[in-house]
Amino acid sequence: MDFNLTEEHLMIRDAARDFAQTELLPGVIERDNKQEFPKEQIKKMGELGFLGMMVDPKYGGSGLDTISYVLAMEEISKIDASASVVMSVNNSLVCWGLEQFGTEDQKQKYLTKLATGTSIGAFCLSEPEAGSDATSQKTTAIEKDDHYLLNGTKNWITNGSTADFYLVIAQTHVEKKHKGINAFIVEKGWKGFDIGPKEDKLGIRGSDTHSLQFNDVKVPKENRIGEDGFGFKFAMKTLAGGRIGIASQALGIASGAYELALKYSKERKAFGTEICNHQAIAFKLADMATQIEAARHLCMKAAWDKDHKKDYTMSGAMAKLYASQVAMDTTVEAVQIHGGNGFVKEYHVERLMRDAKITQIYEGTSEIQKIVISRGILDA
Ligand code: CAA
Repeated sequence: MDFNLTEEHLMIRDAARDFAQTELLPGVIERDNKQEFPKEQIKKMGELGFLGMMVDPKYGGSGLDTISYVLAMEEISKIDASASVVMSVNNSLVCWGLEQFGTEDQKQKYLTKLATGTSIGAFCLSEPEAGSDATSQKTTAIEKDDHYLLNGTKNWITNGSTADFYLVIAQTHVEKKHKGINAFIVEKGWKGFDIGPKEDKLGIRGSDTHSLQFNDVKVPKENRIGEDGFGFKFAMKTLAGGRIGIASQALGIASGAYELALKYSKERKAFGTEICNHQAIAFKLADMATQIEAARHLCMKAAWDKDHKKDYTMSGAMAKLYASQVAMDTTVEAVQIHGGNGFVKEYHVERLMRDAKITQIYEGTSEIQKIVISRGILDA
């Protein structure tokens, strides 16, 4: 087994690290305070190829593997998890689904813009009454002549107001339950499509999260993705890869907090020595480093499974379940190591602690990951 990264992997990791330090770090606290979307930074991420990392270059993507994506996600998330969720949703939930299951026309019209970052995408599955229970979609898309009429409400949509194209999951044949669900590409600005107010969130405050309303929105038939009734499987397959992205985000939040805590503990003195020399702190650092390394291995294994065309549903869920717990635990300890300074915004760790929580909630809560993992074990 070879744990070495290739030269190309190292270059991508370093490029992402460099970008995060030079472009994302300045202003990250202010954007968090003001709930300001990192518009310019996301544009640059698109130009550098971070928004369509795994997309075939013939559609404008970078043509890289999932390992590269995990490495870049970790580096970006160390500094700015609000930027990395935009990156994760665009790469995993929007570009991947379109490239795998879209028609050639859909790819030419939408994927080429999404992969280069000239347009941003959103993935719209959750509803006020269908978060974890994703088969209970209330949004309907009823067939009429050459189009579908879309009606309903979506909740907690990342890139809610900044997206240009939205992948919307809706119920077409109510009696068929999950087999009657479809996925559609909806464009911003279509008549009857309204964006609700921005959510005021605990963490990832720079990302924009909204509810969306659809009132008799006419969606052309050619904007349905896949065969009639494929929508639920589309959502599940897409989310399976998305969970690798969020696991890597959690990993980055954890390693970012750890690096700050390690540095601080080597500088801060108490009782006559740097605090890292006290076992109470050194043991915390040992636990953090061990857990982060284990989370990184789970992320890499899931990415390796995906790159080798193996089933990654379970390994992705394991990576997300574990890495998100590590993100929570590590950021809490990083604040503790910083003492009073940890409670102050300029030291960054309080933001990382707030950002960590969402990784246990979106793209399936930790409880959902346990459902996926236990079913995988029992069905094997
Ligand atoms: N790949 C392919 N097919 C899959 C699948 C997968 N990973 N998972 C399920 N399916 C298929 C099943 O095989 C089944 O198909 P058949 O009927 O043909 O056998 C069908 O889908 C229904 O599956 P289940 O019976 O397992 O469905 P369920 O109702 O028990 O739910 C669940 C399963 C795993 C709990 C699912 O509802 C789920 O993942 N819920 C969480 C949803 C979620 O992650 N929401 C987050 C929203 S997105 C977001 O957060 C984005 C953002 O903005 C950051």
